[in-house]
Amino acid sequence: MKKLNVVLFHFLCLPIFILFYSNVNAQTYGKNGMVVSDNVLASKVGIDVLKKGGNAIDASIATAFALAVTHPEAGNIGGGGFIVLMKSDGNVTTFDFREKAPLKATPDLFQDADGNLIEGSNHETIKAVGVPGTVAGLYLAHQKYGSLPWPDLVQPAVDLAENGFPMTWGLYQVALRMSELDDAYDIMKNYFRNTEGSVVQPGETWKQPALAKTLSLIRDKGHDGFYKGEVAEEIEAYMKAKGGIITKEDLAKYSAIERKPLKGSYKDFEIYSMAPPSSGGVALIEMMNLMELADLKKIEFNSTTYVHLVAEAMRRAFADRAEHLGDPDFNPELPLDMLTTKEFAKMRFDHIDMSKASLSDTSRYGQLYDGSSTTHFSVVDKDGNAVSLTYTLEHSYGVKMGSSKLGFIFNNEMGDFNPVAGVTNSRGQIGSNPNLIAPEKRMLSSMTPTIVAKDGRPFLIIGSPGGRTIINTVFQTVLNVLEYDMRIDKAIEAMKIHHQWFPDEIRYERHLLSPDTRDALELMGHKLRPVNNLGVLMGISYDPKLGVYIGASDSASKDGGAVGY
Ligand code: GLY
Repeated sequence: MKKLNVVLFHFLCLPIFILFYSNVNAQTYGKNGMVVSDNVLASKVGIDVLKKGGNAIDASIATAFALAVTHPEAGNIGGGGFIVLMKSDGNVTTFDFREKAPLKATPDLFQDADGNLIEGSNHETIKAVGVPGTVAGLYLAHQKYGSLPWPDLVQPAVDLAENGFPMTWGLYQVALRMSELDDAYDIMKNYFRNTEGSVVQPGETWKQPALAKTLSLIRDKGHDGFYKGEVAEEIEAYMKAKGGIITKEDLAKYSAIERKPLKGSYKDFEIYSMAPPSSGGVALIEMMNLMELADLKKIEFNSTTYVHLVAEAMRRAFADRAEHLGDPDFNPELPLDMLTTKEFAKMRFDHIDMSKASLSDTSRYGQLYDGSSTTHFSVVDKDGNAVSLTYTLEHSYGVKMGSSKLGFIFNNEMGDFNPVAGVTNSRGQIGSNPNLIAPEKRMLSSMTPTIVAKDGRPFLIIGSPGGRTIINTVFQTVLNVLEYDMRIDKAIEAMKIHHQWFPDEIRYERHLLSPDTRDALELMGHKLRPVNNLGVLMGISYDPKLGVYIGASDSASKDGGAVGY
């Protein structure tokens, strides 16, 4: 009887415990593999693939499709993103599956007759949808580096969508809001409802049959299951009916690209991150180069000097990002070699006044706040292959529109382009040329999937959602581990700030910066703004003494979790 009770506890209570209390362990240990994602069910899908002999790319594909079901706020097949892959032989490569502007897109797509930005049009209308890249990116990564059959990697997501999974409190809070949106947000009205028409309650099984069918087509037909045939037909029909501009031709022409990683260094560490069309890697490497020039052994973490220096590094990196970066296929002269050199960092560092704040100058370029609902996951397998993957719908639930027949939500990534040429203002609109809209161009991103290596093997695998804040939260977490010697979970939870050149202010995590430090920073000329949280980081680090990986999911994640074995 006692044994039966134990068995019953494991079968009934443990899954519930894992579902609702996934963040109980601040860190998780794994010798043979680790997956850390924004949803513990998706992490588990990835680990199961590793246990079946799949490699880190296989596990990442399965986790990404699972997140499209269990974390639909940002996990997706209707958006795009980036993979950084470090192979066990020490070679690093990346995949760019960023969304593209449709063929019918024009530079004035979001402007009125006077050439002004129509407020909200680049994020809240059907024209804000970029041609999705996720399925193409995952498929290309599989063709190049996968080891298990493709259908086996999509099937767990089909199962989750078809058979359902228990609604969590985290999802439920959003489900209530989304279900009340007006008719323009067609797919959201019934997205979280059961067959009786009620919003699915916490603990109740939530099924997504339309998404299961779309995923089955992707399982059976691979890339073409999304970009050709009935899914492509329905996307075009939906776009036509709603006034959108994406066509079957856009979908047929979409391809993901394998690109060289951006490489930097910090002391004994090598840093690999995403090159344009993401700005993340360039800005991260520029800031790490700046930090290398400071004597951080004498600068205490979270002190006034620390916050000032970090904010000034951010101010400079974000100004450079805005001025220079865009899709490399449309800007062959991007000065990446200049921006990521130690010499350039020295020039930038020499202009930092350690006694007072610099002024962000509107004659230079600025930044808009943008979507914070991206998601990141980190994976490592038993052979030491590591994946850092960040993908997104841009805003939370993207444009909040999509065909109910297909069951997935479209991104609103066109909002990441600069909307009006030449118009840069202190509110944050940017008008620099490299990131203006053009047909088939990829919009500039801030996603910063990163792998730090030591002695040729992965030492830290890290990334985050958070729009422009992604770059800065990844930067500070890397610095926390490499310079301030923090364990991965501590590094993720430690106080973060964000400065993005414009608006000229330091955002800081409320309650984590002392009033004295804030006063001192204000006396130096900084403007400060408290925010509840910065970043939802998902990281893995390697402990060389124990020979074990440590995974940690940010406590800001509602349903996230690290699973190792
Ligand atoms: N949508 C957020 C980014 O790409 O930076």
